[in-house]
Amino acid sequence: MTFRGALIGATIVVLGLLGAFVAAQTGLYDAAATSPHFALTYDIIHWVGVRSIDSRAPKGQMPAIDAATAARGVLAYDRVCANCHGAPGRARNAFAEGMNPAPPPLQFVGREWPVARIFQATARGVKMTGMPAFTFRMSDADIWAVAAFVKKLPTIGVQDYRALVTAMKDQATLPRVPPPAQAPDASRGRIALMQHGCASCHAVPGLPGGREAQTGPSLAGVGGRAVIAGELANTDLNLALWIQHPNLLRPGSAMPDMRVGPQATADIIAYLRTLKDP
Ligand code: HEC
Ligand code: HEC
Repeated sequence: MTFRGALIGATIVVLGLLGAFVAAQTGLYDAAATSPHFALTYDIIHWVGVRSIDSRAPKGQMPAIDAATAARGVLAYDRVCANCHGAPGRARNAFAEGMNPAPPPLQFVGREWPVARIFQATARGVKMTGMPAFTFRMSDADIWAVAAFVKKLPTIGVQDYRALVTAMKDQATLPRVPPPAQAPDASRGRIALMQHGCASCHAVPGLPGGREAQTGPSLAGVGGRAVIAGELANTDLNLALWIQHPNLLRPGSAMPDMRVGPQATADIIAYLRTLKDP
């Protein structure tokens, strides 16, 4: 290169830097989220991001990524990621729609990205995009589980997604209902209902004195109802969970947790099952 060429090159660079400085200093560059990136800027952010993530992603030995791991990941996905990235049948939160770049649905990522890259992006976040790092908030095992779930995301429909979230919620957060020592007995259940003070809040057919109780709904016909407490399928398991842990199923419910033991719970359910007619 001649001296002249070098001088022209240097002048262009200096002018470019000067122009950038003036644009920045005068506020010409619009940093507002409402001002879109140029397509080229966007592509560059992406390209740099992916190259950087890949060069730091875990290599070699990786935890087993199977269906069970992916199923475990769905809860964290639903609780955390879906707020920004959405989920089958679920829109992103309103605030995420105003982000620039907007958090994309992760179906494409699930199809195209290796799981280690998804892990790395989730653990460390992506600078200047609004994608948070989760490594200080989630264990590595949980991040692998979420990454495994993202890999499965493209194959999951709306119904399946809801079913999976519900099933995993039941498994993950609900306590076990210990089995009763003896076979459930409705006549013992009637006494247990009285002894636990259920009839002080609920009108219970067949119990004296309970007719006027109005703090809780009448239990007449509860044995044959499709749902209890407004939202739970009326299975024996859900009834038992409700009787033992009402405040866990519905925080703030006016029905208190009364330490009803396993046998009394089973007996009470046997009695409630006899109350079929409203
Ligand atoms: C606060 C909003 C927010 C939350 C919460 C969030 N993300 Fe993101 N995510 C983003 C944004 C913004 C991007 C960058 C989009 C871009 O570069 O186009 C992104 C990018 C990504 C990418 C890279 C995709 C790409 O095309 O660049 C992955 C993978 C990802 N997120 C996974 C997750 C996972 C898994 C979770 C849950 C643990 C999560 N994100 C939670 C906002 C969020
Ligand atoms: C302090 C008052 C109170 C006591 C005591 C109480 N409950 Fe309740 N119960 C409620 C209220 C209020 C609701 C409705 C709660 C809700 O939907 O959040 C309810 C709901 C229920 C339901 C669901 C009814 C329906 O129609 O969906 C059942 C079943 C039930 N209680 C059983 C019992 C049993 C069994 C006991 C005794 C171990 C008991 N309750 C003691 C207040 C009480």
